[in-house]
Amino acid sequence: MGFREELAADAAELEAGGRLRLLREITPEGDGLCRCNGRTFWNFSSNDYMGIAADAKLRRRFYAEYPDTATPELALSSASSRLLTGNTPAYTRLEAKLSELYGNRAALVFNSGYHANIGILPALSSNRDLILSDKLNHASIIDGMRLAEAEFRRYPHLDCDRLEAILRQKRAAYRRVFLVTESVFSMDGDAADLRRLVELKKQYDCILVVDEAHSVGVRGPKGTGLAAELGIANDVDVLIGTFGKAFGSTGAYAIMESETRNYLINHMRPLIFTTGLPPAVLNWSCFVLDRCAEMDEERARLRRMGEVLRTAFGKNTVAGDSQIVPFLIGGDQEAVDKAAYFQENGILVFAIRPPTVPPNGARLRFSLSAGLPEEAVEQLRRLV
Ligand SMILES: Cc1ncc(COP(=O)(O)O)c(C=O)c1O
Repeated sequence: MGFREELAADAAELEAGGRLRLLREITPEGDGLCRCNGRTFWNFSSNDYMGIAADAKLRRRFYAEYPDTATPELALSSASSRLLTGNTPAYTRLEAKLSELYGNRAALVFNSGYHANIGILPALSSNRDLILSDKLNHASIIDGMRLAEAEFRRYPHLDCDRLEAILRQKRAAYRRVFLVTESVFSMDGDAADLRRLVELKKQYDCILVVDEAHSVGVRGPKGTGLAAELGIANDVDVLIGTFGKAFGSTGAYAIMESETRNYLINHMRPLIFTTGLPPAVLNWSCFVLDRCAEMDEERARLRRMGEVLRTAFGKNTVAGDSQIVPFLIGGDQEAVDKAAYFQENGILVFAIRPPTVPPNGARLRFSLSAGLPEEAVEQLRRLV
C-alpha cells in the first residue's frame, strides 16, 4: 500500500468505528446561537463560558477605545518572537494587569494553553525529577510530560490517597517532584481537591502546577479561578489560565514567582521559538479581564444552569458544580447517535470519544454559557 492508500485506510477504519473526526464550519450568530450545515442551533459546545466571545456589543466597545484601526494597538501581527522584537507594550500592560489581579505575583503570557503546557514542565524539570499527574489531565499536559526529561507517573483521577502513597514511597529518590492537575476537569467538569494537593506539596516538598483553563473567568474573585476562590492561589507554584475559553480571547498565562518567570523566559522553548501574539489580541485580553471581573451575576447564573442540567441528567452525569456537564454514554456509536438526536432537536452537542476520553467513556459534553438564554436550557432539559 502506498502513503495515500495507508492514510485512506486509516480514515476508513476510524469511520467504521464511529471515531472519524471532521472539521465542521460553524458560524456564531450571538445570543447563544450558531449556524452549522445551514441550520441554527443553541450552542452547547463552546467554551465561551461567559458569552464574551459571541458578544458583538462588547467587541464594538473595545474597538471604540481604539478608533483608529491604523494604531499599533490594533496591529494584527507582532512579526517576531517576544525575545526579539515581538514584545510589544501590549504584553507589558497585560502582564501588569494579571500580576495585579493575582496579588502582585509575576505573570507571563503565552500563545495558547497548549504552548504553556508543552513548555513549562519540560523547562522546569530534568532527568533527576519526577512528575505526578492526574490520570484525566488534558492532552497538552500529557504532551508536556512526554517532552520533559523527567520521569512521569499518572495517579488515578482525583485520588489524593494514592498520590500520597506514591510520594511516601518515591519522594526521596528525586531532586524535584512536580504535582500537576487541572482544577476543573475539561471532560468531566469535576474538580481537584486543591486544598489537599497544597497540603501534600508542603508535606513532601513538591512543586504544584495547576491548569485552571476551565475555571478562570468562571470561578473565584474577579474570575481568577478555583484556587483563588479557595484562598490558596499563592500556594500554587505555577497557576495556568487560558484566554481562549471563558475570557473569549486567545492565548494563556502563568502566575508564579519572579524567579520562575525569569527561568521560563530563558528556557521555555514554546515561548522562545514562536512569534508573539498580535497587539490587537493582547489588548482585547486586557479589556476582557476587566469586563469579566465585573461579571459576578453571570457567574452565579452559570452555576444555577449547571445545577438544572445535572439534576436533569441524574445518574448519567458526574458529580460536580461546574459549567461542564457530561452526559455519560459509554459506546462510541451510541454517543454519536445520541448527539444526532440532540442536533435534530436544535441543540449543538458533539460526541466525545476515545482517545479524548478513556475507552468506553464516550459521552456528550454539554458546556454552558452565560450567553445562553433560559429557554435554551429548558429546551435541552425537555429532550433528556
Ligand atoms: C485543561 C486544558 N488545558 C489547556 C488547554 C489548551 O488551551 P488552548 O486552547 O489555549 O491551547 C485546554 C484546551 O482545550 C484544556 O482543556
